[in-house]
Amino acid sequence: MTKQETFQLEFENHVKEGLTSFPKFLSSKYIYNERGDQLFQQIMNLPEYYLTNAEFNIISEHKEQLREQLHHPDGFDLIELGTGDGKKTKVLLQELVDHKIDVTYIPIDISQHAIDALTGSLKEIMPSLKVQGEQGMYFEVLKRLAQYDKRPKFIMVLGSNIGNFQHDEAIDFLSQLRAMMNSRDLLFMGFDQKKNPWMIQRAYADSQGVTQEFNRNLLHRINNEMEANFPVTSFEHWESYDPETGTAKSFLIATEACEVTLEKLNLTVSFKKWETIHCEISQKYDDDVVNWLANESGLNIVTIYEDSDHLFKDYLFNVKQ
Ligand code: AVI
Repeated sequence: MTKQETFQLEFENHVKEGLTSFPKFLSSKYIYNERGDQLFQQIMNLPEYYLTNAEFNIISEHKEQLREQLHHPDGFDLIELGTGDGKKTKVLLQELVDHKIDVTYIPIDISQHAIDALTGSLKEIMPSLKVQGEQGMYFEVLKRLAQYDKRPKFIMVLGSNIGNFQHDEAIDFLSQLRAMMNSRDLLFMGFDQKKNPWMIQRAYADSQGVTQEFNRNLLHRINNEMEANFPVTSFEHWESYDPETGTAKSFLIATEACEVTLEKLNLTVSFKKWETIHCEISQKYDDDVVNWLANESGLNIVTIYEDSDHLFKDYLFNVKQ
């Protein structure tokens, strides 16, 4: 079975399970096809979605400190999980190139298109930088990471992607990363912070409705890939941030009763008016929670970097001795 076929089968099994459960759910992991990537790009440019600018600010303000922390006589490999458009990473890469640091940049993404676009643009703006793109799923690639042990690894996971995991899944993810690290390796990861709940609420319920289209892309995908007939515009986006747990949850809600047929899955699903599909969590953190996650995963916080508006933090971890 090809990677694509395995992914499709996983997607279909997930849809079957999610739509026949009570309450219904679907994972945001399946939003990201070409249109999903474009919509996420639009989200990152929204005035309400503060996360991207905050992390850009952290890297811009602390690039010298980071360069000094990363310095190693043998040079190092900079491995990034999930590339996006690379805007934030380019700031750090430029700093390393300007100071003639011996680094190989290894961006890893599920999308070959994203890797090619990033590699192409880096070739133009930083021709002396060594770049080695790797296409694949996070966990599959994590195994491959183990090969990069000739010199220190600096692993970056930006954008609070970890927030799309429940805590137990986050510990599992961090533990798998930890298993690929040795004592001189470092992990740099973004964690969006708890803050004024209104600010979080607005970031995920934007005034232009881009987040609604982003979530609805799940239904478009199911319609296209599973011969289904979701009346997509009858499903509205709802965001609910719980300041006690720090969990922002997003739902699609049926605004009218409907029956949806998924021909490819031989499945018919009924929706009552106002019935929900839970699509995503975007967890918000504080230092205590990150410290607990790190501890549970065999990691240790070395440095905490924060943006000037105190919205977002990147944590630098090493392996707990
Ligand atoms: C990719 N991930 C970190 C984004 C987030 O903030 O949870 C996805 C997103 N969902 C709605 N807006 C952005």
